[in-house]
Amino acid sequence: MKELLAQADAGGYAIPAFNYSDLWEMEAIVSAAQELRSPVMIASNLQVIQTHGVTRLAKLGAAAAAQADVPVINHLDHCFEEDVCLAAIEAGYPSVMIDKSHCCLEENIDAAKRVVAKAAEKGVDVEAEIGRIKGKSVEGVYTGDDFLVDVPSAVRIAEQTGITSLAVGIGNAHGFYKEKPEINFRRLQEVNEAVRIPLVLHGGTGIPQEDIQKAIRLGINKVNIGTQLHYRYVTTLRKILSEQPEICNVVDLMLPVLNAIKEDVKRGILMCMSDHKV
Ligand code: 13P
Repeated sequence: MKELLAQADAGGYAIPAFNYSDLWEMEAIVSAAQELRSPVMIASNLQVIQTHGVTRLAKLGAAAAAQADVPVINHLDHCFEEDVCLAAIEAGYPSVMIDKSHCCLEENIDAAKRVVAKAAEKGVDVEAEIGRIKGKSVEGVYTGDDFLVDVPSAVRIAEQTGITSLAVGIGNAHGFYKEKPEINFRRLQEVNEAVRIPLVLHGGTGIPQEDIQKAIRLGINKVNIGTQLHYRYVTTLRKILSEQPEICNVVDLMLPVLNAIKEDVKRGILMCMSDHKV
């Protein structure tokens, strides 16, 4: 992952990381990446891992990566629980995210250090987060500039923990944006000047392409996209079910869904400018 991020940095593009919940989404991501010759991350969150099991997902991700002819990195996304991060490392995930951004800086740093120590034994990459990605669940509701990454904290977590990459809260949010997202490019630039490791932009769904590409120019090396794929999945499936209720073969039902998701993955890849890089 480190090498891919460095190549992205040098080449002026970002590694796209797409969230999957099941095999159909995973297949859509990997086959779009292959068609567009893009490196890609396939990311599962805690809920998905708790449903399917960390060992199974580690093996499925490894099989997908082994069969693909482009780099495919299986990644544990937004893991708020340290023990699950450690279990994912043990099970063979090559990349994990420990997310203690909702805790105080000291706790965030300490948790990242512990995960990095375990990850280092297996050559696994670790992402952490600083500032807050506005959104749901444990991430809380932030107002004003509460969510913004502050530069000294970013420097401390980057320098004191050994993490591979750092997700930054710069006005981005998970899920669909209610209003046009206000990305704080100035803060991004300040963090990028102060921090040596690659920076990650979460909440890719709904950020306009020009803003994503500007963020990439200002130092973002990885962009996460999830909601758009899940939305396409559910809305396409719902339409087919209502228009063709006679279909009860799952593959017949799901192939159009897979193809629809794949188109969104391709749009995400083009937005990250990572196509034709491998
Ligand atoms: P979206 O679901 O808003 O695209 O964000 C994805 C993400 O950041 C996952 O970590």
